[in-house]
Amino acid sequence: MKIDIDKDIRKAKTIPSRFYHSPKIYKKLRNLFDKSWQFIDDTSLLDKNNAHPGILLDGILNEPYVLTKKDGNIKCLSNVCTHRGNVVCNDSCNTKTLVCGYHGRQFEIDGKMKFMPEFDGVKNFPSKDDDLPEISMEIWKNLIFVINDKRCDLSEVTGPMIERMDWLPIDEFKYKPELSRTYKVNANWALYCDNYLEGFHIPYVHKDLNKELEYEDYFTEGIDNTVLQIGIGKDDETVFDLPKGHSDHGKNIAAYYFFLFPNMMFNFYPWGLSVNVVKPKSSEYTEIDYFTYVWKEELMGKGAGGDLDKVELEDGEIVETVQKGIKSKAYDRGRYSPKREIGVHHFHLLLQKYL
Ligand code: FES
Ligand SMILES: [Fe+2]
Repeated sequence: MKIDIDKDIRKAKTIPSRFYHSPKIYKKLRNLFDKSWQFIDDTSLLDKNNAHPGILLDGILNEPYVLTKKDGNIKCLSNVCTHRGNVVCNDSCNTKTLVCGYHGRQFEIDGKMKFMPEFDGVKNFPSKDDDLPEISMEIWKNLIFVINDKRCDLSEVTGPMIERMDWLPIDEFKYKPELSRTYKVNANWALYCDNYLEGFHIPYVHKDLNKELEYEDYFTEGIDNTVLQIGIGKDDETVFDLPKGHSDHGKNIAAYYFFLFPNMMFNFYPWGLSVNVVKPKSSEYTEIDYFTYVWKEELMGKGAGGDLDKVELEDGEIVETVQKGIKSKAYDRGRYSPKREIGVHHFHLLLQKYL
């Protein structure tokens, strides 16, 4: 499918609707996600255990990985045995050796093959190819990102976020499992992102949230692989106390919403951080993992980041309705509001660039 989005938002038409429901187009997205940085978790995972398995974007990439820690050094390794492809580590554990449960191959915690039964006489064995390959990983503060097929440095995606948010002691924020969850939405992943990328719908869909924000001052900017939205608060108590010298010092900022292409959302509130990872599962089904990190407990439940559950349910509902509408024969493409849909347009240009 050809995407032809005009760079001039005043002339542009949105993405053809097939993009949001065709299983054939969905299958072609693998490459895009393969070459995209993905947030997976934070380093506290490895405080007690030194091996933690996971699957990178199960549903589209399905890449088994294992995070390991040796002498304080964190690595992301392929979790696939180099013998005949069994998954090696199945549970988070504290161990000196990773042992494959199929034929007993053993790996050091840094991935080096250390022992294999019944392999006497095998030529050129072991070699580098018998070690568990590393998956590219970078850590910002305590947040772990990995990429399957490294196309660029992490900073090319996180740069604008770091520039504005580096002053926050994110590594001191507390991960709250009881406030973290997975939402299920019967809609295409990109439709969910489109909705996130505009505040246009706030007065219509989120009536309570709208009471907290100055709709007229809502700000959106597309910067490289990022879209930044800023919500300006009505109430002085639930805005950021920004340090002197910060580019937004003096503004009443209630929330920073960073979208990192193609599927991550980092939402900063005066109480802390909510990270959402949009996981495509099929052309019309998506799961969104919410990770909640609390900084100032006393501010929870207040301001724009107050009732995120309600906002999420409202978003899920509207996006599912759009999914039904978008499959209609009568609809193909729409137009953008140059004032309110800068973020959606920027996202569509990025999809055009990378697909
Ligand atoms: S597949 Fe792992 S030892 Fe055979
Ligand atoms: Fe919304």
